Order: sequence, then structure tokens, then C-alpha cells
Amino acid sequence: MERIKLHKGDITKLKVDAIVNAANTTLLGGGGVDGAIHRAAGKELFEECRTLNGCPTGEAKITKGYSLPTKYVIHTVGPVWNGGKYKEENLLVNCYKNSLRLAVENKIKSIAFPAISTGVYRFPIELATKIAIREVKNFLNNNDTFEKVIFVCFDEGTYSNYKKILSA
Ligand code: APR
Repeated sequence: MERIKLHKGDITKLKVDAIVNAANTTLLGGGGVDGAIHRAAGKELFEECRTLNGCPTGEAKITKGYSLPTKYVIHTVGPVWNGGKYKEENLLVNCYKNSLRLAVENKIKSIAFPAISTGVYRFPIELATKIAIREVKNFLNNNDTFEKVIFVCFDEGTYSNYKKILSA
């Protein structure tokens, strides 16, 4: 799995074909990585997002990257953790699956993911990390032309979690 990379830092700095945004259903920006991406991309991103009429949880929509170094932003809406009995797991699985499907449809070869749903949405980090790594490994096993998937961790705790599960 040398096509999977782990990076500790700010996803808005990465020069890849696409970065994934952990958005909300309005797609009109917010805090966390959503806020960082909108600040770095500029107001044209907000203008394009306004034309998309939001996005249901678990689904994904694509925009240009504008002032970001990335060509595209894939906005996906993770589930809010409510104890695990409201299909949170398969909604998070769908975030990864739908983001990667959109990447293939747009001939994207390199993509960076934040730790979707593990911030404001309080999804348990261990379980979210297992889902992220499992879904990306499955995808790469079936898409040998895809070049690189980077997991971007903004803090030490997330980074050490990904490191532990990737090396398991
Ligand atoms: N680069 C990479 N990762 C980041 C960055 C950044 N610049 N900023 C924050 N993160 C990390 C957080 O530390 C966390 O590990 O992204 C992960 C996801 O956290 P959130 O951004 O809070 O996203 P999420 O938990 O999915 O909640 C989404 O928060 O910002 C609002 O509009 C957003 O309503 C939506 C909700």
C-alpha cells in the first residue's frame, strides 16, 4: 500500500488533484477544515457552492479549487455521531466511497482526505480511522491507475491513530 501516504499538517497547502472537504449539508462553509478550505480558496468557492443546493449526509459534490493549490475540492458531508445507532458507520463509509467515485469520474489521480466527522461531528477517532483506511484500501485494490491517497491529520492524536492503524 505504498500509494497511501500519511501527512501531518494543513490540507489547504497540499498540491494534489483534489482535496476532500468535511462539509455540512448546506455546503456554505463552517469551521474546522471547512472554514480553512473556504478561507484559502476564496469567495469564488462559496459562489460555486451556492449553485449546488447543498449535499445530503454521506454524499459528495465537486467544485474547482480556485485559490487553493489543488485543482478540485470534493465536498462530502460526514455523519454527526449520535451513539452509533443511527447508521453513522455506513454514512461515513459512503463519504469515502462517494468522494472516490467522484474522483474517478473526474479523472483525478491524487486525493487528500481529512479525518472526516472526527472534529465537530464527534465521530470516535479509532472507528473513523478504521473506516477511512479500509475503504481507501478496498478502492485502491480495484483502481490500479489511481496514484496516491493522502490522509491529512491536523493534530498529533489523529496522526498517531492513523499511524497505528496503517501499520497494523
Ligand atoms: N487541514 C486538515 N485537517 C483539518 C484542518 C486543516 N486545515 N482543520 C481541521 N482539520 C481536522 C480536524 O482537526 C479534525 O481532525 O479535520 C478533522 C475534521 O474536523 P472538522 O473540520 O470539525 O469536521 P467534522 O467533524 O466533519 O465536522 C463538520 O464542522 O466545520 C464544520 O461546516 C463543518 O458543519 C461541518 C462540521
